[in-house]
Amino acid sequence: MTDDQFEVRKATIADVERIHTLISVGAEHQKMLARSRSDLYESLRDFIVAARRSDNLVVACGALAITWADLAEIRSLAVEPEFQRQGLGRRIVASCLAEAKGLGIRRVFVLTYQKEFFERQGFAVIAKEELPHKIWSVCLKCPKFPDCDEIAMAFDVPGNGAA
Ligand SMILES: CC(C)(COP(=O)(O)OP(=O)(O)OC[C@H]1O[C@@H](n2cnc3c(N)ncnc32)[C@H](O)[C@@H]1OP(=O)(O)O)[C@@H](O)C(=O)NCCC(=O)NCCS
Repeated sequence: MTDDQFEVRKATIADVERIHTLISVGAEHQKMLARSRSDLYESLRDFIVAARRSDNLVVACGALAITWADLAEIRSLAVEPEFQRQGLGRRIVASCLAEAKGLGIRRVFVLTYQKEFFERQGFAVIAKEELPHKIWSVCLKCPKFPDCDEIAMAFDVPGNGAA
């Protein structure tokens, strides 16, 4: 698309402050887990961003974090409120799923309050018990632990051995 205002690309070091801001705003509204700058630097290679082409302003982010041999998680998905409902969340998720496909990962999951949004991206609700215990190590950092009210959803990557 030639009139596409936004570039969806892998994050770089220069994007960390904006990613930190986007996630912090989401966390203030109880929509996601806050992440420290140190955590963001360590996991920067997981991140995809949408940047406005005119000034490179990062307006959306999301990360694909590998959990295990057959599993990865979409984490820290956030779109600046002013830029929501313009297809950027969908594009970040699609980019994460394409990366999962390339990596040979069978299933991508998310813990979210945005059930309808993820249903539109092909995710289905699963029982939290289907997820390996390993994922709950991140949850220990959550102020809501152990009373998690997020919904677990999963997407089985076509062609990567899903049942
Ligand atoms: C949830 C969020 C990522 C969606 O991003 P977005 O860029 O606004 O969504 P998109 O424009 O890509 O929407 C894609 C589709 O989902 C729908 N949709 C988006 N948000 C929705 C919502 N809250 N409820 C229902 N449907 C929604 C859109 O209407 C669109 O539908 P279509 O397929 O018929 O066109 C964004 O609203 C956000 O950052 N919210 C705050 C943080 C958050 O909750 N993050 C999720 C953490 S897991």
